[in-house]
Amino acid sequence: MSIDVGRIIEIFNDIAVVIGSNKEYLTDLDAAIGDGDHGINLNKGFQNVVQKLSSSNPKDIGEVLKIVGMTLISTVGGASGALYGTAFMKAQTKGVGKEDISLKDFSEMLNIAVDGIKMRGKGDLGDKTMLDVLIPVSKSIEESLQENRKAAEAFRIASETAFKKMEDTKNISAKKGRASYLGERSIGHIDPGAASSYLIIKTIGEYLAKEEN
Ligand SMILES: Nc1ncnc2c1ncn2[C@@H]1O[C@H](COP(=O)(O)OP(=O)(O)OP(=O)(O)O)[C@@H](O)[C@H]1O
Ligand SMILES: [Mg+2]
Repeated sequence: MSIDVGRIIEIFNDIAVVIGSNKEYLTDLDAAIGDGDHGINLNKGFQNVVQKLSSSNPKDIGEVLKIVGMTLISTVGGASGALYGTAFMKAQTKGVGKEDISLKDFSEMLNIAVDGIKMRGKGDLGDKTMLDVLIPVSKSIEESLQENRKAAEAFRIASETAFKKMEDTKNISAKKGRASYLGERSIGHIDPGAASSYLIIKTIGEYLAKEEN
């Protein structure tokens, strides 16, 4: 895998389209256990990301990710804007001066992004949040690196993991965010942030699969 600046921008454009077409789904998930704004929040954020990326001229991967992180932090209300924004701001530090990234670079970026989300939200695995998808995905990508899998295959496996882990959030009660006010009553519902994280990973996977063919 070698994702350069042009390709990473294409990936963010794809993510924006997918988040846009799942806006109502994500909002419905959030309406069940939160305040019903997750789809609206993220859609607004990623539409702004697309605009910002097309009107700036980022030189390296770090600059792209910095634009994404800053845009999400400044335009998305709610916890998810700050958390996803923090994730991309952490990841960008590993992209400074890089004109393209490998699967290994991606893995390192994801690890530090996950650490950033954990620190910012004081959450961890099992809290029924986006981390319940992103932590297993980061482990899955690390495993694929050890197995010398190609990026498209690594993301195909990671997407399967993400889907399963997203579904598994149904079985646990929320310990972070607004959904935690419901306690046990949050059981039976998929966490909206876990769903958006799955969609993002799936979109990257589909982009890479398309490129390989
Ligand atoms: N402390 C946290 N750590 C990690 N993820 C979190 C945390 N708090 C919330 N989330 C994630 O954010 C999602 C909700 O995002 P949303 O865009 O709806 O913002 P929000 O309404 O301000 O969030 P919330 O009501 O959960 O505080 C949750 O589904 C969860 O995945
Ligand atoms: Mg919400």
